[in-house]
Amino acid sequence: MNHEIQLVERPTAAPSHEHIKIVETEKPEPAQGEVLVKLLYVSVDPYMRGRMSNAKSYIAPFQLNEPMEGGVVGEVVQSKADSLSEGDIITGMLPWQEFTTAKADTLRKIDPELGPITTSLGILGMPGLTAYFGLMDIGQPKEGETLVVSGAAGAVGSTVVQIGKIAGCHVVGIAGSDEKTAYLKNELGVDEAINYKTEDVPSRLEAACPNGVDVYFDNVGGEISDAVYPLLNKFARIAQCGAISSYNVPNAQGPRMQSYLIKSSALIKGFTVGDYQERFNEGFNHLSKWLKEGRLTYEETITEGFENIPDAFFGLFEGTNLGKQLVKVSAPSNS
Ligand SMILES: NC(=O)c1ccc[n+]([C@@H]2O[C@H](COP(=O)([O-])OP(=O)(O)OC[C@H]3O[C@@H](n4cnc5c(N)ncnc54)[C@H](OP(=O)(O)O)[C@@H]3O)[C@@H](O)[C@H]2O)c1
Repeated sequence: MNHEIQLVERPTAAPSHEHIKIVETEKPEPAQGEVLVKLLYVSVDPYMRGRMSNAKSYIAPFQLNEPMEGGVVGEVVQSKADSLSEGDIITGMLPWQEFTTAKADTLRKIDPELGPITTSLGILGMPGLTAYFGLMDIGQPKEGETLVVSGAAGAVGSTVVQIGKIAGCHVVGIAGSDEKTAYLKNELGVDEAINYKTEDVPSRLEAACPNGVDVYFDNVGGEISDAVYPLLNKFARIAQCGAISSYNVPNAQGPRMQSYLIKSSALIKGFTVGDYQERFNEGFNHLSKWLKEGRLTYEETITEGFENIPDAFFGLFEGTNLGKQLVKVSAPSNS
């Protein structure tokens, strides 16, 4: 027997179990040029909330009564393609089905020498590349500058703060618990960490950024960002990566940032990591080199069980994850 996770209703606020159903299905048969994949790890990501709605976006919405999909690591258990063999560990964008088929040429074989296979969904995958390109290409951090990062203890943010330190910045991270701010300070070496749930963000930020803010890597938007704009220095750069504070808030208002952008001649640029597809090798090479050299580290929160994918996903909006949130569906057969 096989199982898949379908979207059955589009949420208008926070996603919950009423919007998602686990359905029993048949194990599919691979056609010529395809492989049968057993899911090992599933990545749950905030952008999936956008795909649950049918609003215009850069990526197609999930279809109702069809499986949701996303980045996964899987094992090839049957191959009808020359390029992949049984036992190969792959990554790709696949439906949330315990067993699924895919065209071999849409999958990438993982090199286990580069790090644990889960890193291809985290620091050496989409979130790591997002951090690298958003910061380096848009943020353009320079030694001695002040970098502020919101959502700093998550998959993207925790990589951004470390690259900021490599670039020689004064780094200020904002996150939602004392455990996270302690992690940022003690493990990742940020200069200041602010718990936005218990501290007064505007006054703490002002104290943490005595020379103003040169680069703002924004993962969350909303009131946290409202507190950053008044501190922007002349020619500051804002990499607008995410806005998770508003994903579940229909008709979210604000922010009113225009006058701050004018006063500081700041640049704000939204981006999706896909904009950098042609440069992925460059990003990957930097990230894997820094990881090997011990200049980057990472944390993963791993939930066990296919049936717990929805809860792991919902948890992103509660901040239950430290670092990259993954779900372990099964173990590789050679482990
Ligand atoms: N542009 C792109 O291509 C791209 C690619 C990947 C991700 N993103 C965006 O980048 C952001 C981070 O993604 P990620 O994958 O690294 O996720 P993540 O940071 O690992 O997980 C989401 C985190 O967001 C925080 N959060 C949830 N609700 C919040 C709220 N109302 N206000 C402030 N913080 C809140 C929580 O941390 P706390 O405990 O700190 O609240 C939670 O742990 C998201 O906005 C995502 O959409 C963009």
